[in-house]
Amino acid sequence: VSDRTDHGAALALGSGDLPVWYRDTEGVDPQDLDRALATLDPGERARAERFRFPVDRRDYVLAHDLLRRSLSRYAPLAPEQWVFDREPTGRPVLRVAPGVPGGAEMAVSLSHTRGAVACAVARATWLGVDVERVHPSIDIAEVSRLAFSSDEVAALEDLDAGDRLGRFVELWTLKEAYAKATGLGLSADLPAVTFTLDPRGALELSERTRADTSSPTSWQLALFAPAPELRLAVCVRVAGVEPWRIVARDHGAPERVLLPIRVSHPLPDAEGAQPRAR
Ligand SMILES: CC(C)(COP(=O)(O)OP(=O)(O)OC[C@H]1O[C@@H](n2cnc3c(N)ncnc32)[C@H](O)[C@@H]1OP(=O)(O)O)[C@@H](O)C(=O)NCCC(=O)NCCS
Repeated sequence: VSDRTDHGAALALGSGDLPVWYRDTEGVDPQDLDRALATLDPGERARAERFRFPVDRRDYVLAHDLLRRSLSRYAPLAPEQWVFDREPTGRPVLRVAPGVPGGAEMAVSLSHTRGAVACAVARATWLGVDVERVHPSIDIAEVSRLAFSSDEVAALEDLDAGDRLGRFVELWTLKEAYAKATGLGLSADLPAVTFTLDPRGALELSERTRADTSSPTSWQLALFAPAPELRLAVCVRVAGVEPWRIVARDHGAPERVLLPIRVSHPLPDAEGAQPRAR
């Protein structure tokens, strides 16, 4: 997998493929940042200008650039040619791109945190990705009170103090990915959703409020640790019998497939996860 200059799509995006791209944004050089800025549309550039801190502006620009470049890996359009709309909730949607087969069917999601960005694309309807940093200054009690279920709070309290922060960030990242996958964002009823992370590496989601989706098989989840202090979660609505082929890669080392630390459904092994050239 490599960035191309001819913008011909080199990879096939099958109906069950769900590629996730991650990028470490620390130390990105100014030329790279300028190149990324050039792929953004005027609205994105105007939003980028409004960030108070240059690092937040950098991460915003690189997240939107990463999404554009990711889409261009799978469809014959240059990164700057993709057109997005934004729903009132904030959810980004790809606008119909004339002449791009399947372009408009793609669901997209992106995330930025200090020093890291991520995105996911798929021929899915409900898709969310989130990346967060494990930071000791996080107020675990406050966020748990607002966004965690009582079962999640109890599970956190059962952990040794040394394990609590990491687990908290895993839950938080999953919740954000879920909030984006539903499209509800900030208005999602997060305490009504319980993620269960068992010691054997399994991962489950149960929703209290929606009878139609109470089965944990309705959503497929995968959790990655692209770096020791980062967690990346993907949440996608299960569409058929086969699980989504979620394959996460590092933009800086595209041949490297990131191994998940937890999954709700089996993922392809590293061999099967290789990109399929057309
Ligand atoms: C906006 C929200 C969806 C995620 O925000 P976040 O994790 O702070 O920020 P991220 O960088 O990961 O994601 C922001 C991106 O999500 C996307 N997004 C925003 N609203 C969205 C929605 N309703 N649905 C899907 N995607 C959405 C956008 O692409 C946005 O980036 P952009 O503005 O640059 O286009 C929302 O859930 C939020 O702000 N949550 C924080 C509140 C909270 O209680 N957190 C604790 C949860 S445990």
